[in-house]
Amino acid sequence: MSKIEKLVGLLKRLNSGEKIEEVEKDAENFLSQINATDLSIAEQQLMDNGMEAEDLRGLCVIHMQMLEGEVEKMTAELEEGHPVAIMVQEHGVLLETLEELESLNATLQQNILTPKLQSELLRIVRILTGAELHHQREEQALFPILEQRGISGPPTVMRLEHESLRPKKHGLEVLATNALEIEHEEFKKQLAELSRYIIFNLRDHIFKENHILYPSAIEIITEREVWAKISEQCDKIGYTPYTKGK
Ligand SMILES: [Fe+2]
Ligand SMILES: [Fe+2]
Repeated sequence: MSKIEKLVGLLKRLNSGEKIEEVEKDAENFLSQINATDLSIAEQQLMDNGMEAEDLRGLCVIHMQMLEGEVEKMTAELEEGHPVAIMVQEHGVLLETLEELESLNATLQQNILTPKLQSELLRIVRILTGAELHHQREEQALFPILEQRGISGPPTVMRLEHESLRPKKHGLEVLATNALEIEHEEFKKQLAELSRYIIFNLRDHIFKENHILYPSAIEIITEREVWAKISEQCDKIGYTPYTKGK
């Protein structure tokens, strides 16, 4: 079996809902041997076979795992409490929460909603809506400095993504709150749609910030005093209940 065929097989398993850890166990050290080009070829093959871009979530997960080392390298060079280090830490919590949402959605598609599952859903939703202060720090403390220095495209795209995620997170919150009063089939349908949108788009958003926007910011903003000002403004805006280092 060629490297690409093997990769396509792994992606199919991930897309069918298997956990990355299980797939990775079978793949042994395979994932560390593949590069970005292998991934694009495999992605193209799956899309040629009729897979929708949104169904390629597995690819996104693998991509993130491959590049995780790069984010760690970036944050290791930052001082403790650096605004970007804090944002990366919060992204970590959000990514874990998206995995939890994914598996809870799968559970609820197969099972009756119980008060226990409802409170689990509410816990997840609160972490996601609690990220609002994270987004505001990006929008009000970090992006304006990048824009002043001529980097306007990426902050504009990131702002638009924050905007389009807000009503979906709100929708999920309303759904979770009223879950027990909604007819189960209708609840499942809405849950699947909202979860799918949020999981795909927030993962993609975090990926772009971790790998493109934050590294550019660190490269462009070289003055300690400018970071100190950003940090001060971040403090004024505030942090999430799961922020560490503040
Ligand atoms: Fe963002
Ligand atoms: Fe972010």
